[in-house]
Amino acid sequence: MRLTSPATMRRYGQLHVAEEVQILDLDVQTRCGHRGNSSTYVAKGDVCFSRSSLDDILSAMVIVVPCKDEELHVIWGVIAAIPAPCVVLLVSNCRRATTRDNKEGKEGEEEDQYTQLVEMSRTFGAFGRQVLTIHQKDPAAAAALRESGMSQLLDSADKRVTRNGKGEGMVLGIALAEAFYPQKRYIGFVDADNFNPCSVGEYCQAFAAGFAMSRRPEYEDTIVRLKWSSKPKVRTGGTIEFVPEGRCSRIVNAWLNRLFVPSLGGAQPRETARPFITTGNAGEHAMTMALARKLRLAAGYAIEPFHFVDLLVRGCLDGGISMQRLDKPVVVRQVRTLSPHYHRESDDEHIRKMWAAGLGSIYHGLSPYCAEGGPILKLCEDMRAYAVNHNGIDKATGELPCPRIYPPVQTMNIRRFRDVLESSIGKGSFHAFGLSDDVED
Ligand code: GDD
Ligand code: MG
Repeated sequence: MRLTSPATMRRYGQLHVAEEVQILDLDVQTRCGHRGNSSTYVAKGDVCFSRSSLDDILSAMVIVVPCKDEELHVIWGVIAAIPAPCVVLLVSNCRRATTRDNKEGKEGEEEDQYTQLVEMSRTFGAFGRQVLTIHQKDPAAAAALRESGMSQLLDSADKRVTRNGKGEGMVLGIALAEAFYPQKRYIGFVDADNFNPCSVGEYCQAFAAGFAMSRRPEYEDTIVRLKWSSKPKVRTGGTIEFVPEGRCSRIVNAWLNRLFVPSLGGAQPRETARPFITTGNAGEHAMTMALARKLRLAAGYAIEPFHFVDLLVRGCLDGGISMQRLDKPVVVRQVRTLSPHYHRESDDEHIRKMWAAGLGSIYHGLSPYCAEGGPILKLCEDMRAYAVNHNGIDKATGELPCPRIYPPVQTMNIRRFRDVLESSIGKGSFHAFGLSDDVED
């Protein structure tokens, strides 16, 4: 793969944010003029990584696919496009079948999508892919979370199951990766509602390239965040407009760019033509397992913007919360893909809730750092005013929504989590297929 090399890295204490880089070539010949070793080199200012060097990283990676009611063929396409060396972990919150009257008036079974998902995963496993599947509402998952000390993830109305939400599914995914694949060094996330399967292959390669740009996980943690080249929109008359930024990202990135100015890290402001933060809401992202273990994670769709908040407050800002400080540098790598992203179209209400949750995670996460007259206080006041004017205020509280924040996965007793879930493999919703220790036929 060939990418532009990042010209700028902004430093905020232990948090280092690199300027967006762009994928220029999905594949390169490693013979062309280069310096350095043959797997990684710089040519005419671009950085290149051989296919085998990216494969090495991919073979140490788990890819979590959060899913909820996507059509089976769509999820099939996503799994099929994930590079074979990766472990695939499907965390589904799809509606389960209920017994109901069928057309003839007799009691019948609705087709269960999750059962179909498991059967599909079994087929992938039969050809050597490692695929784990779990349903978010599996009581065994809830029991494992409770017994391992993560009861915050349990539904407050029904403690026998995990809460709804994309972020919640992802926390469960991280815990599963940690418990069942402790030797893996990286974890990535790709949405299941992707209508262009081949883009998923590119996303995973891009994750690997982002890690290849960083130092080894022993020296620094890395989070790779993808910026889709565009989001195609079908307009009246059938024309397709390739919109550079989604409706939610446009809002959240603008506020993050006000926060992540060079002066926050102590540097002199410099005029830049392009926005610096382009991946505030990157649904497609990956990180070193060490980072996934120590990050606090936000509920639902606030999970991605809140990464920036947790990293900033624990890596740079003084006082405030009593969380453990970052013990080594964390590099944020932003990568622009070649592929546009085709996915399920959302209505305005969904988008409004998503940006409000993202801004809420920033607003409430930074509130302990709002010193009188300081830049963060001004930013938060302006953000709140924006939310008031754009219908982003939670009516119950009169504030921006305050997303639930989960403690880091490293606070869990992972051995206990594994023991409880292991005993349920193949019995409830939890299945493991492929060439792992936990093989089912
Ligand atoms: N396991 C699980 N549980 N998955 C869920 C849940 C849930 O409760 N809710 C949603 N998902 C899955 C969906 O099935 C889909 O694969 C993925 O999460 C993204 O959900 P969408 O509803 O399609 O989100 P979106 O397209 O509006 O937003 C996406 O892009 C944003 C950036 O533009 C998400 O990835 C956002 O997190 C991201 O910020
Ligand atoms: Mg989507």
